[in-house]
Amino acid sequence: MMNILQTLNAFILPLILILFFSINPTLSEYNFTIAKPGCVDRCGDIRIPYPFGTTENCYQHYSFFVTCNETSNKLVVQSSSIEVTNISLDGQMKILQYIVQDCYASNVSTRYSRASLNFPPHLTVNNTANKFTIMGCDTYGYVSGRRFPSKHNYTTGCITRCDSRASLEEGSCKGSGCCKTSIPSNVSSVDVRVYSFSSNYKDVLDFNDCGYAFVGEDSAFTFSADNLTNLRNVGNFPMVVDWAIGDETCDEAKMNRSAYACVSQNSMCYKPENGYGYRCRCWEGYQGNPYLIDGCLGMHYCASFMAN
Ligand SMILES: *[C@@H]1O[C@H](CO)[C@@H](O)[C@H](O)[C@H]1NC(C)=O
Ligand SMILES: *[C@@H]1O[C@H](CO)[C@@H](O)[C@H](O)[C@H]1NC(C)=O
Ligand SMILES: *[C@@H]1O[C@H](CO)[C@@H](O)[C@H](O)[C@H]1NC(C)=O
Ligand SMILES: *[C@@H]1O[C@H](CO)[C@@H](O)[C@H](O)[C@H]1NC(C)=O
Ligand SMILES: *[C@@H]1O[C@H](CO)[C@@H](O)[C@H](O)[C@H]1NC(C)=O
Ligand SMILES: *[C@@H]1O[C@H](CO)[C@@H](O)[C@H](O)[C@H]1NC(C)=O
Ligand SMILES: *[C@@H]1O[C@H](CO)[C@@H](O)[C@H](O)[C@H]1NC(C)=O
Ligand SMILES: *[C@@H]1O[C@H](CO)[C@@H](O)[C@H](O)[C@H]1NC(C)=O
Repeated sequence: MMNILQTLNAFILPLILILFFSINPTLSEYNFTIAKPGCVDRCGDIRIPYPFGTTENCYQHYSFFVTCNETSNKLVVQSSSIEVTNISLDGQMKILQYIVQDCYASNVSTRYSRASLNFPPHLTVNNTANKFTIMGCDTYGYVSGRRFPSKHNYTTGCITRCDSRASLEEGSCKGSGCCKTSIPSNVSSVDVRVYSFSSNYKDVLDFNDCGYAFVGEDSAFTFSADNLTNLRNVGNFPMVVDWAIGDETCDEAKMNRSAYACVSQNSMCYKPENGYGYRCRCWEGYQGNPYLIDGCLGMHYCASFMAN
């Protein structure tokens, strides 16, 4: 009896492992299927997990429609110009947004830009990962926009003035040449502007001829005195955006089973801290895409089987 079991183990276990790894060729890379069957699951290096998708039956709702330009491998939200660089199943995605500028040469304005982003429903600017940041030595800037579901407007901003390059603190955005502030929760649009107090940087022009501003991922940015000049040619910076399903709570969503998005049987529903709607996650010990039928795989089965 013991011998038979040992023989079985010796042959079947490796066989199962071989089958397991060969059925799913992407296993070593991601460990699970992320898109619906027959749907595009990547754009260049960027993975596209369901509920996101590039064609009608591949996304959960139009809000999750993304377009991949197969020539440039650039992914955008719906058919907007908002470029997506990463989508995570934890409910975040990274997008690129403009660094706005206000530049002068002697008394003449040479460049002025302003940026506005309006997010579709289900996308919210992450208020813990991002900061509104401005740079310059004669500079003020602000960000304004809309919050939901209240539709209240918000405006917040920052000021920074300094009189020499020597007064800038390398690596530190604390008010000399660089200033940052938090943005509120539930933000669905940002309009970023930056200006010069003197309208021409006249007192600081020898070392600073531009002001800059952006809302972006705080941990990805370290201020350097060089940025007062080198940001001129940097078009954009990453921002973290939160996504969620629908506009209902988990309890409300569960009442309509045909629309409920947490379809994997080993998944659960939770409420995000920011924005509206709900999200799904796999149970502890499971891994995968909770938004797909059979999406959450039980990693513990494998582990307990191998422990025998
Ligand atoms: C996307 O983010 C994850 C971590 O959240 C990282 O492991 C992965 O490499 C990123 N992918 C790309 C294409 O940047
Ligand atoms: C895709 O990207 C290429 C290269 O950047 C560009 O020439 C083309 O117009 C883009 N196509 C679409 C449909 O946007
Ligand atoms: C800039 O303008 C101010 C007043 O508008 C003037 O006094 C100053 O001479 C001008 N500077 C230059 C370099 O043109
Ligand atoms: C919020 O801002 C928008 C656009 O600037 C404006 O049309 C709207 O009236 C503002 N709403 C309130 C409540 O002030
Ligand atoms: C700021 O300047 C530093 C040092 O030159 C550079 O490494 C960094 O990329 C710049 N920041 C941005 C956002 O371009
Ligand atoms: C349930 O969801 C389906 C699909 O989205 C929708 O067509 C239907 O009207 C919803 N039913 C109720 C009672 O809200
Ligand atoms: C904001 O992003 C951070 C990671 O960058 C994440 O830990 C946090 O949960 C996000 N906030 C929400 C409300 O999703
Ligand atoms: C953000 O939106 C959620 C969902 O609608 C709501 O419960 C929460 O009160 C809002 N938070 C603020 C500060 O407005």
